Amino acid sequence: MKLQSALVFLTALSGPALVCARQDPFASPSPSPVAIAIADIAVSTIVPQATVPEQPDQTARANLDNGLAVGNITFQDTRDGLNVSVVINIVDINSGLYEECMNPDRRSFNLTWAVHNGRPAGGEGMDMACEDGQGTPRIEGVYDETLACGPGTAEQANCEALKRTADQGYNYTCDPELYESDPYACEVGDLNGRYGAIKMGVNVEGITASANYSITDLRGPRANLLFDRSVVFSCNQTRIYCEAIDEVRT
Ligand SMILES: *[C@@H]1O[C@H](CO)[C@@H](O)[C@H](O)[C@H]1NC(C)=O
Ligand SMILES: *[C@@H]1O[C@H](CO)[C@@H](O)[C@H](O)[C@H]1NC(C)=O
Ligand SMILES: *[C@@H]1O[C@H](CO)[C@@H](O)[C@H](O)[C@H]1NC(C)=O
Ligand SMILES: *[C@@H]1O[C@H](CO)[C@@H](O)[C@H](O)[C@H]1NC(C)=O
Ligand SMILES: *[C@@H]1O[C@H](CO)[C@@H](O)[C@H](O)[C@H]1NC(C)=O
Ligand SMILES: *[C@@H]1O[C@H](CO)[C@@H](O)[C@H](O)[C@H]1NC(C)=O
Repeated sequence: MKLQSALVFLTALSGPALVCARQDPFASPSPSPVAIAIADIAVSTIVPQATVPEQPDQTARANLDNGLAVGNITFQDTRDGLNVSVVINIVDINSGLYEECMNPDRRSFNLTWAVHNGRPAGGEGMDMACEDGQGTPRIEGVYDETLACGPGTAEQANCEALKRTADQGYNYTCDPELYESDPYACEVGDLNGRYGAIKMGVNVEGITASANYSITDLRGPRANLLFDRSVVFSCNQTRIYCEAIDEVRT
């Protein structure tokens, strides 16, 4: 079924009983928006929410160890939602890579982050190796299963069909406060929008920086949806490094 006809079909029905052909990535589904009308949805796959089987808790992790930074981002299913844990140590803040995201007091800077489709070659990459089109499978835009359609979405064609591009007058807004009330406002992969940037604290000696904290995302995606994608870290929109997200088997 084509996207448009799927949409007409969906909008003719009432919301909450629907799920889409692809899995709804949110742990606790809230009002089913048009955003989960996904291109390849098929009538026969529309089933009541209650029949979606429970999945076991899983863990996904991106290990950062590229000479510029060490640490990890861990996404772990819990009973309450997705636990996102961030541990990052940056080796040299004076490398020039962080100037555009450095706060004026030079005590901290904002590292932005997002989950993208695709993986850098060898599982990790730096600058150009993190651009769209690089890696295997190729790195694309931001993981956006629910078609929230931010400017960097990996779902360009579907977003155009939904008239959700800036050129079509669509205004993507996503910030942690809005996310609380409407998780579908945010791309699944827009970690920056959902949780805020990673605030890297510059250590007293003024050379290294670190972050170590965790977030419980009550509306987060299940960890398995993040397997084989990548976390891309940026400073003021410039991609600095990227790391593949792998399943952690325990
Ligand atoms: C995450 O990174 C920190 C800092 O490098 C390290 O101490 C810790 O063992 C890592 N955790 C895992 C689970 O790999
Ligand atoms: C989240 O994960 C971190 C790191 O594994 C752990 O220290 C923390 O207790 C977890 N938080 C919750 C609420 O499970
Ligand atoms: C961030 O990037 C924009 C556009 O490239 C630039 O205009 C702006 O000055 C940068 N911000 C900082 C803090 O350097
Ligand atoms: C970093 O983030 C904080 C909090 O969102 C913001 O106030 C500040 O302007 C940001 N700094 C830069 C350099 O973008
Ligand atoms: C987009 O939405 C934001 C927040 O709701 C608002 O401040 C801004 O004016 C809107 N921009 C446009 C172009 O409509
Ligand atoms: C992160 O913080 C916890 C306590 O909050 C501490 O036990 C742990 O050693 C820290 N990890 C790193 C890599 O700094």
